[in-house]
Amino acid sequence: MEKKIISAHIGMQFGMSHVEGALAFGAEIGAICDSNPDNLRAAGERYGIPAEKQYIDYMDIVRNPDIQIVTVAVPDQQHKKISCDLLRAGKHVLCEKPLALTREDLEEIIRAADASEAKFMVGQICRFTPAFEKAKQIIDAGTIGELYYVESEYAHDYMKIVDNWRADPKRHGVIGGGCHAVDLLRWLAGDPQEVFAYGTHRLLPQVPYDDATIAVLKFGENLVGKVFVSTGCKRDYTMRTVIYGTKGTIICDNTSPTMTLFTVGEDEMAHEGQTIDIQVNNHNAAREFEVFADAILNNKPVTMDAREGAKTVEACLSIVKSSETGQIVHPNYNF
Ligand SMILES: NC(=O)c1ccc[n+]([C@@H]2O[C@H](COP(=O)([O-])OP(=O)(O)OC[C@H]3O[C@@H](n4cnc5c(N)ncnc54)[C@H](O)[C@@H]3O)[C@@H](O)[C@H]2O)c1
Repeated sequence: MEKKIISAHIGMQFGMSHVEGALAFGAEIGAICDSNPDNLRAAGERYGIPAEKQYIDYMDIVRNPDIQIVTVAVPDQQHKKISCDLLRAGKHVLCEKPLALTREDLEEIIRAADASEAKFMVGQICRFTPAFEKAKQIIDAGTIGELYYVESEYAHDYMKIVDNWRADPKRHGVIGGGCHAVDLLRWLAGDPQEVFAYGTHRLLPQVPYDDATIAVLKFGENLVGKVFVSTGCKRDYTMRTVIYGTKGTIICDNTSPTMTLFTVGEDEMAHEGQTIDIQVNNHNAAREFEVFADAILNNKPVTMDAREGAKTVEACLSIVKSSETGQIVHPNYNF
Protein backbone atom coordinates (compact mmCIF):
# COMPACT_ATOMS: atom_id res chain seq x y z
CA MET A 1 0.00 0.00 0.00
CA GLU A 2 1.34 3.42 -0.92
CA LYS A 3 2.13 5.49 2.15
CA LYS A 4 0.82 9.04 1.86
CA ILE A 5 2.03 11.96 3.93
CA ILE A 6 -0.37 14.76 4.83
CA SER A 7 1.55 17.82 5.99
CA ALA A 8 0.76 21.24 7.43
CA HIS A 9 2.97 24.32 7.53
CA ILE A 10 2.99 27.14 10.07
CA GLY A 11 4.49 30.55 9.25
CA MET A 12 4.20 31.65 5.64
CA GLN A 13 7.44 33.53 5.08
CA PHE A 14 10.53 31.32 5.27
CA GLY A 15 8.03 28.52 5.94
CA MET A 16 7.00 28.61 2.29
CA SER A 17 10.22 26.72 1.57
CA HIS A 18 8.76 23.89 3.67
CA VAL A 19 5.60 23.90 1.56
CA GLU A 20 7.82 23.60 -1.50
CA GLY A 21 9.83 20.80 0.16
CA ALA A 22 6.63 18.91 0.95
CA LEU A 23 5.28 19.39 -2.58
CA ALA A 24 8.58 18.18 -4.07
CA PHE A 25 8.27 15.07 -1.91
CA GLY A 26 4.73 14.47 -3.11
CA ALA A 27 3.02 15.15 0.21
CA GLU A 28 -0.57 16.31 0.33
CA ILE A 29 -0.78 19.80 1.86
CA GLY A 30 -3.42 19.41 4.57
CA ALA A 31 -3.18 23.02 5.76
CA ILE A 32 -1.10 26.16 5.78
CA CYS A 33 -1.21 28.56 8.70
CA ASP A 34 -0.23 32.14 9.42
CA SER A 35 -1.56 34.54 12.03
CA ASN A 36 -1.20 37.34 9.47
CA PRO A 37 -4.17 37.00 7.06
CA ASP A 38 -2.33 38.77 4.23
CA ASN A 39 0.64 36.41 4.39
CA LEU A 40 -1.72 33.45 4.66
CA ARG A 41 -3.79 34.47 1.63
CA ALA A 42 -0.70 35.23 -0.46
CA ALA A 43 0.76 31.79 0.27
CA GLY A 44 -2.61 30.14 -0.44
CA GLU A 45 -2.74 31.80 -3.84
CA ARG A 46 0.87 30.97 -4.61
CA TYR A 47 0.45 27.24 -3.94
CA GLY A 48 -3.23 26.85 -4.88
CA ILE A 49 -4.30 25.92 -1.33
CA PRO A 50 -8.08 26.34 -0.92
CA ALA A 51 -9.45 28.75 1.72
CA GLU A 52 -10.76 25.92 3.95
CA LYS A 53 -7.17 24.69 4.35
CA GLN A 54 -5.86 28.12 5.33
CA TYR A 55 -5.75 28.48 9.13
CA ILE A 56 -5.12 31.63 11.15
CA ASP A 57 -4.83 29.68 14.42
CA TYR A 58 -2.27 26.86 14.59
CA MET A 59 -4.47 25.09 17.16
CA ASP A 60 -6.69 24.12 14.22
CA ILE A 61 -3.74 22.05 13.00
CA VAL A 62 -3.24 20.59 16.47
CA ARG A 63 -6.92 19.50 16.41
CA ASN A 64 -6.94 18.16 12.83
CA PRO A 65 -6.58 14.36 13.07
CA ASP A 66 -5.65 13.95 9.38
CA ILE A 67 -2.42 15.95 9.61
CA GLN A 68 0.72 13.92 10.33
CA ILE A 69 3.76 16.18 9.76
CA VAL A 70 3.88 19.85 10.71
CA THR A 71 6.65 22.31 9.87
CA VAL A 72 7.12 25.30 12.17
CA ALA A 73 8.64 28.53 10.81
CA VAL A 74 7.51 31.24 13.19
CA PRO A 75 9.64 33.67 15.26
CA ASP A 76 12.13 31.71 17.38
CA GLN A 77 10.49 32.81 20.64
CA GLN A 78 7.41 30.75 19.70
CA HIS A 79 9.16 27.51 18.69
CA LYS A 80 8.74 25.97 22.12
CA LYS A 81 5.03 26.59 22.64
CA ILE A 82 3.95 25.55 19.16
CA SER A 83 6.28 22.53 18.92
CA CYS A 84 5.24 21.24 22.34
CA ASP A 85 1.51 21.63 21.56
CA LEU A 86 2.00 19.71 18.31
CA LEU A 87 4.09 16.95 19.89
CA ARG A 88 1.52 16.46 22.65
CA ALA A 89 -1.11 15.99 19.93
CA GLY A 90 1.07 13.29 18.33
CA LYS A 91 2.15 15.31 15.30
CA HIS A 92 5.60 14.80 13.80
CA VAL A 93 7.34 18.19 13.96
CA LEU A 94 10.04 19.78 11.82
CA CYS A 95 10.90 23.00 13.66
CA GLU A 96 13.10 25.76 12.30
CA LYS A 97 16.48 26.65 13.80
CA PRO A 98 17.53 27.87 16.31
CA LEU A 99 15.58 25.34 18.35
CA ALA A 100 14.98 27.91 21.13
CA LEU A 101 16.68 30.90 22.71
CA THR A 102 16.97 29.78 26.35
CA ARG A 103 18.13 26.67 28.18
CA GLU A 104 14.70 26.35 29.83
CA ASP A 105 12.92 26.28 26.47
CA LEU A 106 15.41 23.79 25.03
CA GLU A 107 14.82 21.46 27.96
CA GLU A 108 11.04 21.77 27.67
CA ILE A 109 11.10 20.84 23.98
CA ILE A 110 13.32 17.83 24.74
CA ARG A 111 10.91 16.69 27.45
CA ALA A 112 7.95 17.01 25.07
CA ALA A 113 9.83 15.15 22.31
CA ASP A 114 10.86 12.38 24.72
CA ALA A 115 7.27 12.00 25.93
CA SER A 116 5.77 11.87 22.44
CA GLU A 117 5.44 8.89 20.12
CA ALA A 118 5.95 11.33 17.25
CA LYS A 119 9.30 12.29 15.71
CA PHE A 120 10.95 15.68 16.05
CA MET A 121 13.55 17.29 13.81
CA VAL A 122 15.22 20.68 14.00
CA GLY A 123 15.81 22.36 10.64
CA GLN A 124 19.56 22.89 10.66
CA ILE A 125 19.32 23.01 6.89
CA CYS A 126 23.05 23.53 6.24
CA ARG A 127 23.49 19.81 6.80
CA PHE A 128 21.69 19.44 3.46
CA THR A 129 23.63 22.13 1.58
CA PRO A 130 25.34 20.17 -1.24
CA ALA A 131 28.85 21.58 -0.60
CA PHE A 132 28.65 20.81 3.11
CA GLU A 133 27.19 17.33 2.52
CA LYS A 134 30.10 16.67 0.16
CA ALA A 135 32.61 17.99 2.72
CA LYS A 136 31.15 15.64 5.33
CA GLN A 137 31.46 12.67 2.95
CA ILE A 138 35.11 13.54 2.19
CA ILE A 139 35.94 13.84 5.90
CA ASP A 140 34.14 10.60 6.80
CA ALA A 141 35.98 8.76 4.00
CA GLY A 142 39.29 9.75 5.64
CA THR A 143 40.46 11.58 2.50
CA ILE A 144 41.89 14.57 4.39
CA GLY A 145 43.14 12.57 7.36
CA GLU A 146 42.45 13.74 10.89
CA LEU A 147 41.04 17.21 11.41
CA TYR A 148 43.13 19.70 13.36
CA TYR A 149 41.50 23.04 12.51
CA VAL A 150 38.02 23.96 11.25
CA GLU A 151 36.52 27.35 10.60
CA SER A 152 33.16 28.61 9.39
CA GLU A 153 31.64 32.05 9.10
CA TYR A 154 28.09 33.29 8.89
CA ALA A 155 28.17 36.65 7.11
CA HIS A 156 24.78 38.14 6.36
CA ASP A 157 23.41 41.69 6.31
CA TYR A 158 20.36 41.93 8.62
CA MET A 159 20.05 45.71 8.25
CA LYS A 160 16.52 45.50 6.82
CA ILE A 161 15.18 42.60 8.93
CA VAL A 162 15.99 43.42 12.54
CA ASP A 163 13.21 45.82 13.46
CA ASN A 164 11.06 42.98 14.81
CA TRP A 165 11.43 39.81 16.89
CA ARG A 166 15.06 39.56 15.73
CA ALA A 167 15.87 42.61 17.91
CA ASP A 168 15.04 40.66 21.10
CA PRO A 169 18.22 40.69 23.28
CA LYS A 170 17.87 36.90 23.62
CA ARG A 171 18.01 36.56 19.82
CA HIS A 172 21.72 37.39 19.60
CA GLY A 173 23.10 37.10 16.05
CA VAL A 174 25.33 34.19 17.10
CA ILE A 175 22.21 32.22 18.10
CA GLY A 176 19.77 33.37 15.41
CA GLY A 177 21.98 33.12 12.31
CA GLY A 178 25.37 32.07 13.63
CA CYS A 179 23.83 28.77 14.77
CA HIS A 180 24.22 27.63 11.14
CA ALA A 181 28.03 27.95 11.29
CA VAL A 182 28.22 26.54 14.82
CA ASP A 183 26.00 23.59 13.90
CA LEU A 184 28.06 22.94 10.78
CA LEU A 185 31.29 22.75 12.79
CA ARG A 186 29.62 20.53 15.41
CA TRP A 187 28.48 18.20 12.63
CA LEU A 188 31.90 18.09 10.96
CA ALA A 189 34.20 18.17 14.00
CA GLY A 190 32.19 17.33 17.13
CA ASP A 191 31.22 19.36 20.18
CA PRO A 192 33.50 22.25 21.15
CA GLN A 193 34.44 21.76 24.81
CA GLU A 194 35.82 25.28 25.42
CA VAL A 195 34.96 28.57 23.77
CA PHE A 196 36.32 32.08 23.99
CA ALA A 197 34.85 35.03 22.09
CA TYR A 198 35.08 38.75 21.38
CA GLY A 199 32.39 40.93 19.84
CA THR A 200 31.96 44.33 18.21
CA HIS A 201 28.87 46.49 17.73
CA ARG A 202 29.35 48.84 14.79
CA LEU A 203 26.79 48.16 12.09
CA LEU A 204 23.39 47.50 13.68
CA PRO A 205 22.80 50.13 16.41
CA GLN A 206 19.12 49.14 16.41
CA VAL A 207 19.83 45.75 18.07
CA PRO A 208 20.84 45.37 21.71
CA TYR A 209 23.66 42.92 20.99
CA ASP A 210 26.96 42.74 19.11
CA ASP A 211 26.63 42.46 15.36
CA ALA A 212 30.01 40.77 14.89
CA THR A 213 31.53 38.02 17.00
CA ILE A 214 34.63 35.93 16.66
CA ALA A 215 34.90 32.75 18.71
CA VAL A 216 37.82 30.41 19.20
CA LEU A 217 36.80 26.83 19.86
CA LYS A 218 38.65 23.91 21.40
CA PHE A 219 37.18 20.56 20.43
CA GLY A 220 39.85 18.34 21.93
CA GLU A 221 43.61 18.06 22.49
CA ASN A 222 44.50 18.36 18.82
CA LEU A 223 41.49 19.97 17.21
CA VAL A 224 40.67 23.66 17.38
CA GLY A 225 38.39 25.95 15.38
CA LYS A 226 36.96 29.39 14.78
CA VAL A 227 33.52 30.81 14.09
CA PHE A 228 32.96 34.32 12.78
CA VAL A 229 29.46 35.77 12.76
CA SER A 230 28.60 39.14 11.24
CA THR A 231 24.97 40.17 10.88
CA GLY A 232 25.62 43.67 9.58
CA CYS A 233 28.39 42.96 7.07
CA LYS A 234 28.69 44.83 3.79
CA ARG A 235 29.05 41.93 1.39
CA ASP A 236 26.86 39.19 -0.08
CA TYR A 237 25.73 36.32 2.10
CA THR A 238 28.23 33.52 2.70
CA MET A 239 29.11 30.67 4.99
CA ARG A 240 32.72 30.26 3.92
CA THR A 241 34.11 27.17 5.58
CA VAL A 242 37.63 25.72 5.62
CA ILE A 243 38.44 22.30 7.01
CA TYR A 244 42.08 21.42 7.62
CA GLY A 245 43.14 17.80 8.00
CA THR A 246 46.50 16.08 8.35
CA LYS A 247 46.26 14.83 4.75
CA GLY A 248 44.29 17.53 3.02
CA THR A 249 42.12 20.62 3.14
CA ILE A 250 38.59 21.48 1.99
CA ILE A 251 37.55 25.03 1.09
CA CYS A 252 33.83 25.45 0.50
CA ASP A 253 30.82 27.66 1.06
CA ASN A 254 27.05 27.64 0.55
CA THR A 255 26.72 29.96 -2.46
CA SER A 256 29.47 28.96 -4.92
CA PRO A 257 29.17 26.44 -7.76
CA THR A 258 32.51 24.83 -6.87
CA MET A 259 34.51 23.75 -3.85
CA THR A 260 38.23 22.97 -3.57
CA LEU A 261 39.87 19.85 -2.21
CA PHE A 262 43.60 19.57 -1.53
CA THR A 263 45.04 16.12 -0.90
CA VAL A 264 48.64 14.94 -0.46
CA GLY A 265 50.78 12.76 -2.71
CA GLU A 266 53.25 10.05 -1.67
CA ASP A 267 55.72 12.76 -0.67
CA GLU A 268 53.09 14.08 1.79
CA MET A 269 53.02 17.40 -0.10
CA ALA A 270 49.71 18.87 -1.22
CA HIS A 271 48.63 18.32 -4.82
CA GLU A 272 47.25 21.22 -6.76
CA GLY A 273 43.72 21.86 -5.48
CA GLN A 274 41.00 19.81 -7.17
CA THR A 275 37.93 21.80 -8.16
CA ILE A 276 34.67 19.96 -7.50
CA ASP A 277 31.46 21.17 -9.15
CA ILE A 278 28.61 21.70 -6.72
CA GLN A 279 24.93 22.33 -7.21
CA VAL A 280 24.18 25.65 -5.47
CA ASN A 281 21.31 25.07 -3.05
CA ASN A 282 21.67 26.92 0.22
CA HIS A 283 18.14 26.08 1.40
CA ASN A 284 17.70 22.48 0.35
CA ALA A 285 14.23 22.22 1.88
CA ALA A 286 13.26 19.36 -0.44
CA ARG A 287 16.06 17.16 0.88
CA GLU A 288 15.32 18.20 4.47
CA PHE A 289 11.65 17.25 4.15
CA GLU A 290 12.53 14.03 2.33
CA VAL A 291 14.89 12.91 5.11
CA PHE A 292 12.29 13.65 7.78
CA ALA A 293 9.47 11.95 5.88
CA ASP A 294 11.70 8.91 5.30
CA ALA A 295 12.42 8.69 9.04
CA ILE A 296 8.68 8.74 9.72
CA LEU A 297 7.56 6.35 6.98
CA ASN A 298 10.34 3.85 7.65
CA ASN A 299 10.68 4.39 11.39
CA LYS A 300 14.30 5.51 11.25
CA PRO A 301 15.99 7.62 13.92
CA VAL A 302 16.18 11.36 13.31
CA THR A 303 19.80 12.55 13.40
CA MET A 304 18.96 16.21 13.96
CA ASP A 305 16.69 15.58 16.92
CA ALA A 306 15.79 17.90 19.79
CA ARG A 307 18.98 17.15 21.76
CA GLU A 308 21.11 17.83 18.69
CA GLY A 309 19.36 21.17 18.15
CA ALA A 310 19.77 21.99 21.84
CA LYS A 311 23.51 21.26 21.79
CA THR A 312 24.00 23.68 18.92
CA VAL A 313 22.14 26.42 20.80
CA GLU A 314 24.11 25.63 23.97
CA ALA A 315 27.38 26.13 22.05
CA CYS A 316 26.01 29.46 20.74
CA LEU A 317 24.86 30.57 24.20
CA SER A 318 28.36 29.78 25.50
CA ILE A 319 29.95 31.93 22.78
CA VAL A 320 27.67 34.84 23.68
CA LYS A 321 28.42 34.37 27.38
CA SER A 322 32.16 34.36 26.72
CA SER A 323 32.01 37.56 24.64
CA GLU A 324 29.98 39.24 27.40
CA THR A 325 32.12 38.10 30.35
CA GLY A 326 35.60 37.85 28.85
CA GLN A 327 35.85 34.34 30.28
CA ILE A 328 36.46 30.94 28.72
CA VAL A 329 33.15 29.03 28.81
CA HIS A 330 32.66 25.25 28.87
CA PRO A 331 29.33 24.40 27.20
CA ASN A 332 27.10 22.03 29.14
CA TYR A 333 25.82 19.48 26.62
CA ASN A 334 24.09 17.46 29.30
CA PHE A 335 20.51 17.51 28.03
N1 LIG B 1 16.89 27.74 7.87
C1 LIG B 1 17.13 28.98 7.47
O1 LIG B 1 18.08 29.25 6.77
C2 LIG B 1 16.18 30.07 7.89
C3 LIG B 1 16.06 31.24 7.14
C4 LIG B 1 15.15 32.21 7.56
C5 LIG B 1 14.41 32.02 8.73
N2 LIG B 1 14.57 30.86 9.43
C6 LIG B 1 13.78 30.64 10.67
O2 LIG B 1 12.42 30.52 10.29
C7 LIG B 1 11.59 31.10 11.30
C8 LIG B 1 10.73 32.17 10.67
O3 LIG B 1 11.56 33.15 10.11
P1 LIG B 1 11.00 34.16 8.98
O4 LIG B 1 12.20 34.77 8.36
O5 LIG B 1 10.02 33.48 8.13
O6 LIG B 1 10.27 35.23 9.92
P2 LIG B 1 9.19 36.34 9.46
O7 LIG B 1 8.99 37.23 10.64
O8 LIG B 1 9.58 36.92 8.16
O9 LIG B 1 7.87 35.49 9.21
C9 LIG B 1 7.25 34.77 10.25
C10 LIG B 1 5.84 34.43 9.81
O10 LIG B 1 5.21 33.69 10.87
C11 LIG B 1 3.92 34.26 11.13
N3 LIG B 1 3.58 33.98 12.51
C12 LIG B 1 4.08 34.57 13.62
N4 LIG B 1 3.53 34.02 14.72
C13 LIG B 1 2.67 33.07 14.28
C14 LIG B 1 1.80 32.17 14.95
N5 LIG B 1 1.72 32.12 16.28
N6 LIG B 1 1.04 31.34 14.20
C15 LIG B 1 1.09 31.37 12.85
N7 LIG B 1 1.90 32.22 12.18
C16 LIG B 1 2.69 33.05 12.89
C17 LIG B 1 4.07 35.73 10.79
O11 LIG B 1 2.83 36.33 10.52
C18 LIG B 1 4.97 35.67 9.57
O12 LIG B 1 4.22 35.51 8.37
C19 LIG B 1 12.54 31.60 12.37
O13 LIG B 1 12.67 30.61 13.36
C20 LIG B 1 13.84 31.79 11.66
O14 LIG B 1 14.96 31.68 12.52
C21 LIG B 1 15.42 29.89 9.03
